[in-house]
Amino acid sequence: MTRLIIISNRVAVPKARGAAGAQGGLAGALNSALKDNGGIWFGWSGQESEDPAGSINLQRHEGVTTATIDLPARDVEEYYNGYANSTLWPLFHYRLDLTEYERETGRGYERVNQRFADAVAPLIEPDDLVWVHDYHLIPLGERLRAQGVNNRIGFFLHIPWPPTRLFVSLPFHERLVRTLLEYDLIGFQTDEWRGSFLHYCSKELNAEVDEEAGTISFEGRSVIARTYPIGIDWDHFQAQGNRGESRNAHQRLLSSTRERTAMIGVDRLDYSKGLPERIDGIGRFFDQHPERVRDLVFIQIAPPSREDVKSYQDIRMMLEQKTGQINGARSEVDVVPIRYVNRGYSHAELFGFFRGSKIGLVTPLRDGMNLVAKEYVAAQDPNDPGVLILSRFAGAAEQLGLDGTGAVLVNPYSPDDISDAILQALDMPLDERKARYEAMIATIRDDNVQAWTRCFCADLTATR
Ligand code: F6P
Repeated sequence: MTRLIIISNRVAVPKARGAAGAQGGLAGALNSALKDNGGIWFGWSGQESEDPAGSINLQRHEGVTTATIDLPARDVEEYYNGYANSTLWPLFHYRLDLTEYERETGRGYERVNQRFADAVAPLIEPDDLVWVHDYHLIPLGERLRAQGVNNRIGFFLHIPWPPTRLFVSLPFHERLVRTLLEYDLIGFQTDEWRGSFLHYCSKELNAEVDEEAGTISFEGRSVIARTYPIGIDWDHFQAQGNRGESRNAHQRLLSSTRERTAMIGVDRLDYSKGLPERIDGIGRFFDQHPERVRDLVFIQIAPPSREDVKSYQDIRMMLEQKTGQINGARSEVDVVPIRYVNRGYSHAELFGFFRGSKIGLVTPLRDGMNLVAKEYVAAQDPNDPGVLILSRFAGAAEQLGLDGTGAVLVNPYSPDDISDAILQALDMPLDERKARYEAMIATIRDDNVQAWTRCFCADLTATR
């Protein structure tokens, strides 16, 4: 079998694997891809060190080899906190108001991509498939080509691709896209993000684009751009539900909420997740239906993320303020409407919490996919399922809700919309809950992370 070389910013090295909620869906997804195919997962160790030789730490665990490098403090600041998370992340999530444009961090981003290429190129053998992940590493393919790597190299973008009118605000936008066109295959989460990318190629680069086939012909090269909606690791997640840890979590949740309906949100503490807007929606619900304060308890699990970046510090403060305001105004001695928790939990515990919550509230302002939405549904009891309230701006809405049969879709910017959806979910009859669950569960089970990996790798193999 062809070996797979996965390259991403973060690598879940065995001893550092933490709570799933804190880690994000990507880490789990890549790990299972490697278990199936063999090969190496290369990336940043998450550690800072000034080691000029950039030595590689190799580890082997349960059939997966990880290879990581440390980065100097300046690189972490300019590449990770800077260009990746203060420029590309906000811009790609349509947040021009939060996007910083600093030449210096752009240089740091290019420098780290070069470091990655220097370190990983010697590990690549001629028949390996190389699969690069996410916005941190867009120029990596081009750097590998410059090192003489002629392998098939694919790239998958886990976050949205912004509309052309927003994207062109990025200085050197053309340079970035040109590097992307050095890959053989570019994957997007949804047709919408792929469409925006093709639009840019056609309008700004004058490339020849075949929308249907997803081919881009540019300066003598041909690149394929396709949609691959990422899925969850269904079998693994179901197995978590059978663990004692999951049953305990389920029981803890039920006994602490008793006759009240639990509504849950689980998100990294990130402004793209729409958390303050969500709290506003819940506040609106309590304003409009004060008699139902005793019916509902909202549990927001929000592990802190990217804490060195100012916009993340700001969002945390804002959220604490809003949650405190609503709890101050609406609590009784025996009722606290919002439980706000700044920590991650294991997948098993999350399964139990999801199972015990009759409403899942997933309302990002913009999201590449959102695997929490899929995990929430996957954890439900088919005979008495909860209701998923989902933002129409999450990539997952293309599969779970746009036809109106699955999730209850909301505009996450509208507190009234969120309030209406909560009321609808609270009072939804069992028949409708079951019908909505049935409309979603097949794609969540079948279009899982293994299928996603198989499809991407098969298409990458078939290029050239
Ligand atoms: O989904 C986007 C993403 O950047 C993933 O690549 C990552 O695993 C997750 O968000 C968490 O972000 P970070 O690695 O910055 O903590």
